[in-house]
Parts: sequence; C-alpha cells; structure tokens
Amino acid sequence: MQKVPIVVLDFGSQYTQLIARRLREVGVYCEIYPYFEDLENIKSKEPQGIIFSGGPASVYDPDAPRVDKRIYDLNIPILGICYGMQLIATDFGGEVIRALEHEYGKAKLYIDKPSPLFEGTKDGQVVWMSHSDKVVKLPQGFERIAHTDNSPYAAIADEKRKIYALQFHPEVSHTEEGTKILENFARRICNVTSKWDMGHFAKEQIEKIRKEVGEDKVLCALSGGVDSSVVTALLYEAIGDRLIPVFVDNGLLRAGEREKVEHVFKNMLQVPLVVIDGKEQFMEALKGVTDPEEKRKRIGHTFIELFEKEARKHKDVKYLAQGTLYPDVIESVSVKGPSETIKSHHNVGGLPEWMKFELIEPLRELFKDEVRKLGLELGLPKEMVYRHPFPGPGLAIRILGEVTPESLELVRKADTILLEEIKAHGLYEKLWQSFAVLLNVKSVGVMGDKRTYENTVALRIVESSDGMTATFAHIPHHILEHISNRIINEVDGINRVVYDITSKPPGTIEWE
Ligand code: XMP
Repeated sequence: MQKVPIVVLDFGSQYTQLIARRLREVGVYCEIYPYFEDLENIKSKEPQGIIFSGGPASVYDPDAPRVDKRIYDLNIPILGICYGMQLIATDFGGEVIRALEHEYGKAKLYIDKPSPLFEGTKDGQVVWMSHSDKVVKLPQGFERIAHTDNSPYAAIADEKRKIYALQFHPEVSHTEEGTKILENFARRICNVTSKWDMGHFAKEQIEKIRKEVGEDKVLCALSGGVDSSVVTALLYEAIGDRLIPVFVDNGLLRAGEREKVEHVFKNMLQVPLVVIDGKEQFMEALKGVTDPEEKRKRIGHTFIELFEKEARKHKDVKYLAQGTLYPDVIESVSVKGPSETIKSHHNVGGLPEWMKFELIEPLRELFKDEVRKLGLELGLPKEMVYRHPFPGPGLAIRILGEVTPESLELVRKADTILLEEIKAHGLYEKLWQSFAVLLNVKSVGVMGDKRTYENTVALRIVESSDGMTATFAHIPHHILEHISNRIINEVDGINRVVYDITSKPPGTIEWE
C-alpha cells in the first residue's frame, strides 16, 4: 500500500480540495478522507502529518462532526484550520465562543512568536478569514503564535506535541503566503521529504484505471479540448486498445481542427481513434433553426445519435470515461463524506438508458492548470494543452441566425485571422478566449469606390480565470485595427468589424 505523507480530514469545508491542491503544488502528496475515517485505516497510510479542514458546523452543534480522540495519541503533527482549530481547542480544554458577527475577508497577521509554521513568511502578511466561532481561551500547553486585529488567537501552537491551529484559511489564494505555511507544516514540522509531481499522479491513475477496468472496454468522446484530450491520452496509456475514443466531426469546428486532432492522436500517440464524419447530419438538423437553445438541443441530440450508433458496434463496453474537473463537481466534499454526496456535472443526461455505463472520471480532483501539466506529462503537445476553451456546439453558437455552409465559411475565415494575429502579438496565453461571431446584421460600406452591403463580425476577446466571470480584454487599438483590416480585406462577404466591450456578467462569453 502506498504511504500518504499528509492526510487531510474533511469536515465539510468548500475549500478542502484547495488544501490538497496547495500541497500538490509544492510537491507534497496527500489524500483527503472524511473526518470519521477509521483510525486504523489512517494509521495504515503511515502519515507524517494530519490536517483538519474547516467546515460549516459550530463545535456547539449537537451533531457537530468530531474526530476519534485517539488520533491525538498517535504522536503525529496536526494542523487544524478554522473549524479544525475550534475542534482542537475544545478537545484540549480551551474555550470557543459563538461570535455574534461573522468575520469574513482579509486581515493582517502579526506574528507573536517565531514558529517553524511561519518560517520564511513576513510579519503583517495578508490572510483570509471566514468564521463565526472563535477561540477565547487557550487550551493547556498551547500558546498564541500570531494574531490579527480581530482575532487575538489567529494562530496557536503546542510546539512540544506539534499541534498547530489557524483561524484563517491558508489554502485560499487571498492568503498571501498560505502555500508557504502549508509547505512549512509538511516539510519543516512533519519532515516530509518525498517529492511528488504530475508524473506520479499519471502513474497512480494509470494503475488505478488498470485495476478498475480489468479486461473490460471503455468508451470516451474526444472533442479535441484539453480535458477530453488528457482523459483519452491517460486512458490509452492505461488500457491501450481497450479504449474506444470517438471523435465526432460535426462540421462546426474551427479551420483545421479535425486534422489537428487526427494528427496528434492517430499519428503522434498512435491512439486507435474512431472518427465519425457527421457534417451532413448536423447541417440537416440545423436547417432553418435560428433559436439559440434549439440549436444547442439539436446539436446535442445529433451528437448522441451518432455516438450511440458507434457504441452499438462495440459489444462489451462497461465504462464511459469523462473529463470532469474539480470545479465541475457541484457539491464540494461534504461532512457526510465525499462518496455520499459529491455529484458531478456530466453530459450523460441525454444518453439512452442502455448507454449509462459506469463512469471513469480520472480528473475529478484536479484544477484546469493541473490538467494541463498532466497533459504535458502524457506527451500531448503544448499547443493542445494550452488551447482556449471551445464550446461543444462549436461555431453554430457563434453564428447568429441560421447556420449555413456559407455562414460557417465566413466565421471560420474571420476566426482564423483573429487567432493568427492574437498569437502573433503574443496575446494568446494571456487570454481566456478570443473568437469571431458572425452577426445577422448587414450594413452598407464602401470599398474601392463601390457600395457594399455585407455582413458584420464581432470580435469577442475576454480575460477570465474560470469562465464564470469575465472582462473584455483591453487589446491595443492598433492591433484591433490590424485585425479589422485583415478580416475586411481577406474575407469576401464581411465589410464591418465591431469589438464587443461587454463583461460577464451581464453578458455571457458566447453570444448564444
Ligand atoms: P458562457 O457563454 O456561458 O460560457 O459565458 C462560459 C464558458 O463556457 C463555454 N461554453 C461551453 N462549453 N459546451 C461547452 O463545452 C457548451 O455548450 C458551452 N457553452 C459555453 C464558453 O466557450 C466559455 O468558455
């Protein structure tokens, strides 16, 4: 059995996964268990340190989550965060009160006593608080090591027993030196020396998948996007030809997209990719449709029809692999324990009953940037791993009005020019997305002394960290001017280019 240097016990905080993520960032391997995990099982992992996460409960709630107190006798260093701190304080005879006001937001942390926990971090560092209850009397053997203006006991420690507790959340990005504090706990206090990286993650997942899948077959839909590409590469590495990766060319892709996907998977990685040419079916389904939701629905149905037809050809499929990421997991790890209440967004809702295979979601603990690292580890090219998101319904939702071969051609050409220029000016990596939208607006123009009456393209270029909110990018005017000139000169049928200056909210990123 694999040793787990740091065990994180989850008390239901929405940030529990972030603790794991921060530790992974600094190369410390950890696993998350529900707070009621059997002590023998925890011991069998031979942990060098244990972290108690935060959580929504109050230690005064009648059914407040508690730990098996024998955990304190294991002589393993412990770090309690927020609820974890209050629990430690009460377990050791300190006093916690229900504060009338919720303290929420940034605060400055002043270090009162040097501690290995704060080694290399500065006095007055910004930390992030989110709590109601607070410790008012220290338990025996503990002393205060830091405070903020509102929390006299922002950090406490029993250096002898190596038990530490923080009122603030070191795992959230608003806590300036939070990662360093977690790293200090692992490396300086728990003496974890082992180094862990995405290569290890890949190896572990591959072994896990092999064990789980056995001799069965796994189906997956490859879109060419980062997540499904990484899942495909990972699964292929694990089970080889027992993976059936299906790529549906819906005719709504950007220029050269199908060729790129085929090149990477068939030629470079030697994956036996099944490519379905569905262009005609999708065009047929979209004929005469202008309503955005109707477009999405029809595209979804057509995709499922084609995917199902392919699946029927393979007899012994037992699993469906999906690129669900941690942010897609709706409910965070809950106090009842991860396996009971985590639900995930997955797109099998529309699949017929017989196709509701068991799910394999190897990326469900990861964040997007970690998936990218994993992709590189698996040999995917950098361009593929760092590409902008592209929606499932493709260019169809970037054409306002009916999707026709002509409108597709126009938006595709404009999009290609836009992307070329964004890359040429070194902007691609700084942006969340940049694409062209073909409007159903015609306007009068003049070109070479001649009147024109042609189409309009809007440029949608946004910055975002997760796609949930976004701001339009402040692209220098001379670059916009150059893009506009190129589109109008090179794309027959477009005589006007406008720039979308709407942020999200209130706008969405895609126009439909
Ligand atoms: P919106 O338009 O809702 O988009 O602001 C947020 C992010 O999601 C992408 N998007 C989709 N991705 N299937 C996808 O896989 C879809 O149907 C879809 N619709 C929007 C969008 O490109 C943006 O990054």
